[in-house]
Amino acid sequence: MRKLLVIGIGAGNPDHMTVQAIDGLNRADVLFIPDKGAKKNDLADLRRQICDRFVTNPKSRRVEFEVPVRAEPTSSYRTTVDDWHEAIAEIYEALIRGELAEDGRGAFLIWGDPSLYDSVLRILERVRLRGNVGFELEVIPGITAIQALAAAHATALNRIGDSVLVTTGRRLTEEGLPANAGSTVVMLDGKCAFNTLADKEVFIQWGAYLGTPDEIVISGRLGDVGAEIEKVREDARRRKGWIMDTYLLRKSGG
Ligand SMILES: C[S@@+](CC[C@H](N)C(=O)[O-])C[C@H]1O[C@@H](n2cnc3c(N)ncnc32)[C@H](O)[C@@H]1O
Repeated sequence: MRKLLVIGIGAGNPDHMTVQAIDGLNRADVLFIPDKGAKKNDLADLRRQICDRFVTNPKSRRVEFEVPVRAEPTSSYRTTVDDWHEAIAEIYEALIRGELAEDGRGAFLIWGDPSLYDSVLRILERVRLRGNVGFELEVIPGITAIQALAAAHATALNRIGDSVLVTTGRRLTEEGLPANAGSTVVMLDGKCAFNTLADKEVFIQWGAYLGTPDEIVISGRLGDVGAEIEKVREDARRRKGWIMDTYLLRKSGG
């Protein structure tokens, strides 16, 4: 039976690689490296760097593949994502069948941790349900952008005994901060959703390119730093051609 190792590689710093992740890489015959287009070359490069530095298994080989770009959501976000996942499932199925021997091992190198805002496990489940190829799965956890953010700000995520909500920029814009939110981590925000909040006393701890040489961190009251973050973010995005940022929001008091 084929085996797939789904390996969390950390959030941008090769030093995030765990011993378990390095061991997983070296147990694979084939290392699958996604290419998300010219703008995101740096992300594929990090995966290549990780392989160059940590793979010592001379028998393994790398297979690079293109990931289709998700269409802009039209009527339904879910339908758009569903179509996109189906297209990726077809690619994964072809890779697994075409590149791995019947008893071969393949590794997918997943940004951060596979359990957090990543679709690889859902897509592999789709591949399994299509019924054309069987495989075992082994998941190796990685350091997430959330941990990198907390470390960069030298902060604990939760206040004492309080909850932590992890959400997206889209939801923050639609729903605002929940009344009982202790700490709220926001990911996947292309539009600085924090600036839509009416409460400017909210404290933000923001980080971009966390763990990389380009890391930027800014913190303060939204009223003081909200506009600055938006400008710094836009300048950095233009300079590099892409940006990944994450932030933690806390209401004042408590
Ligand atoms: C598709 S999700 C992947 C999350 C990843 N699986 C993880 O465990 O961190 C991508 C989002 O993660 C966050 N992110 C990932 N890496 C980051 C980094 N190095 N710095 C800041 N944010 C990052 C951003 O919010 C970005 O929009």
